[in-house]
Amino acid sequence: MGNTIDTNKSPKPEFFDKYWQRSHLCGSIREDLIGRSICVNGWVRRRRDLGGIIFIELWDYTGPVQVVFNPEAGAVHDKAGDLRSEYCIAVRGLVTKRPEGTDNPALATGFIEIVASDFLLLSPSNPLPFEVGENTDRVDENLRLTYRYLDLRRERMQRNLRTRGKLYSFTRNYLDGNSFVEIETPVLTKATPEGARDYLVPSRVNTGEFYALPQSPQLFKQILMVSGFDRYYQIVKCFRDEDLRADRQPEFTQIDVEMSYVVEDDVMNLIEGYMKGLFKTILSVDLETPFLRMDYWDAMDLYGSDKPDLRIPTKLVNLAPIFENGSFEPFRKILESGGVVRALPVAGGAALSRKELSDIEDRAKKLGAGGLAAFQIKDGDLKGPLVKFMSDADKSKLLETAKIGDGDALFVLANPSRLKACNILGTLRLELCRRNESDEASQTSDSDKWKFLWVVRFPLFEWDEEEKRWSAVHHPFTSPVLEQLPQMETDPGSIAARAYDIVLNGSEIGGGSIRIHDPQVQAKAFSCLGIKPEEARERFGFFLDALSYGTPPHGGIALGVDRLAMFLCDGQSIRDVMAFPKTQKAQCLLAGAPSVVEDKRLDELKIKCVPADD
Ligand code: AMO
Repeated sequence: MGNTIDTNKSPKPEFFDKYWQRSHLCGSIREDLIGRSICVNGWVRRRRDLGGIIFIELWDYTGPVQVVFNPEAGAVHDKAGDLRSEYCIAVRGLVTKRPEGTDNPALATGFIEIVASDFLLLSPSNPLPFEVGENTDRVDENLRLTYRYLDLRRERMQRNLRTRGKLYSFTRNYLDGNSFVEIETPVLTKATPEGARDYLVPSRVNTGEFYALPQSPQLFKQILMVSGFDRYYQIVKCFRDEDLRADRQPEFTQIDVEMSYVVEDDVMNLIEGYMKGLFKTILSVDLETPFLRMDYWDAMDLYGSDKPDLRIPTKLVNLAPIFENGSFEPFRKILESGGVVRALPVAGGAALSRKELSDIEDRAKKLGAGGLAAFQIKDGDLKGPLVKFMSDADKSKLLETAKIGDGDALFVLANPSRLKACNILGTLRLELCRRNESDEASQTSDSDKWKFLWVVRFPLFEWDEEEKRWSAVHHPFTSPVLEQLPQMETDPGSIAARAYDIVLNGSEIGGGSIRIHDPQVQAKAFSCLGIKPEEARERFGFFLDALSYGTPPHGGIALGVDRLAMFLCDGQSIRDVMAFPKTQKAQCLLAGAPSVVEDKRLDELKIKCVPADD
C-alpha cells in the first residue's frame, strides 16, 4: 500500500474490486500525502452534518481518519447523508490540510482530512444494539458478549488482542531462541488431573467411552522428555470444568514448558528472562531479576496467601508470645492445644465505626472464623474488648509486635488451624488494606508497580477433610524434596514439594515443578493419594510404563496466558483479553453454546438425557 491511485480510471464498478481497494490505511494518513488522491476502506464511526457539509469518522484497525463530503460533490454528497454508524464503505478522495483552527492534535490523523470524490457502500449495518466506542465498557457485558464482533471493533479490545498476539510472537521467539521445540499434544485424550472436573467428549465409534479434554498437557509433555525432545513448549488450550471467576475460564491458554536434566533454578531463570524480555518488549518496563523467592509457609504466615500481593506492605503478625501466658483464657487454650493467634494490622483503622468493626467480624465469621477481636488506638489509648485481660507490659509488646500506632487498628484471630487463620486474615488483608496502599504504589517505580515473586516449597500433599484422604497440592507428578522421600510412608503432610508458583501482583500467573522421574516413586505418590495400584494402572498405566524406559530427570512450568495478557493490557478480567470468552455460567452467548443436540445425534452416541433435578 502507499501508491497514489488513478482517479481518472473509468468505468467505476459498483462492486468491490481493485478500483475500490484501499491504497492507504485510515490511521496511517499524514500530511505528506496532502494533494494526493487515495482510497480508504473501513467503518463509519460517526457522522455529523454541519451546514450542508457531512463529516464522517472512518475507521480501520489503524485508527480513524476524517472524511468530508462537500455539497459540490452533488449526488455523492446526497448519498453520504444515508450513511449510518458501522456501515462498511470504500471512499476515494483527495487528502487535504484541515482548515485553519479545525486541527485535532489528539489524533495522529488530526491535521488532514479526505475530501471525498466518491464512495461505495460495501455493506450496511443493522441498527446497533449499542454504540461502538470507548463508552461501550459501560454496556451490560452479556449484551457485549452476544454481539462480541461489534465489541471487538472498539479500540481497547483491538489493542488488547493485538497485544496478546505480540505476547505470542515474543514467546515463540524467546523459546525458539533457547532451543525449545513447539509440539502439539492431543485435545481428545484421557483425563489429566489438575484439580478440576474434566470436560468429557463421547466417542461414537467406541460406544459408551469418552475422551477427556486436557486440563493440561502434563503427561504428554513429560512423555516427550522420555522421547528425547529435551526442551518442549506449546501455546495450548486447556479445559477445566470449575467455578468461574474474573481470572478463570473453562477454556484458557497456557504457555506450557518442559525441560530435561534441570533443577528448579534452570526453569526459574528461564522464566525470569522471559518476563524481563516480555515486559520490555510490550510495556518498555525494566523488571529487576532475579525475582524474590518465598517459602510457602512464609507467604502464608506473613501475607495469609500463597499468592501474596506485595504491593500491599501490610504483614500479618504472630501474637502467640503475648497470649500464651496471658489471662485471656480462650486464646491461651487454643495456643495450648496447638492452635494459633494471628493478627492483621490496619493503618488508619481507628476510624472504623462500631458498625464497621462488627461488619468486618461478620465477614471473618463467613470465612470460617469463630470470632474476630479488634483493637483500636485512639488518642494514644489502646481500646478493645481484650484490653482488660492484658498487662501493661503485654500491651506495649502488642504495639511493638504489630508495629501499630495512634490511629491504627489490629484484628486478632485465634484458630486451631494455622492454615485457616492465615487464609482468613489474608482475605481481610486484601479487602481492608488494598486501596490506600496500592494507590500509592502505582505512582512509584516499575519494580513497585510489578510485584513478582516465586512461592516455593509448597506442601506436596494436603488433607482433604471431605474425602478423608490426601490430595496433591499441585498435581500427583510433582517431585517431593528428595531428602524427605522416606516421609511418604510416615508423614505425607510434612513433605515439601519441588514446586514453584510465579505470582504477579497477587495473581498466580504460572506454576510448575521438578517431576518424579522414577516410576516407583510415582507409584508411591499415587498410593499416598489413596489411588490403588489397579486404579493407577487403569488411569496412568501408559505413563508409568513410559517412565520405565530411561527417563531423564525433568521439570517444567505452565504460564497462564490470559492472566499474563490481562496484566499487560491493564484489564480487569481475563475476558478483556479473550476474543470470545464464556460467561460465569460457562456459556458462549455469541454462538449459543452449550446447546441441546438432536435426538438423532444422541442415538448415534447411545446417550440418553434424563430430566435435570431442580
Ligand atoms: P496450573 O494448574 O497451575 O499448572 O496451571 C498453570 C497456570 O494456568 C493458569 N490457569 C488458568 N487460567 C485461566 N482460567 C483457568 N481456569 C485456569 N487454570 C489455571 C494459571 C496457572 O498458574 N500442568 C501444570 C503446570 C506444570 O506443572 O508444568 C498446570 O497446569 O495462571
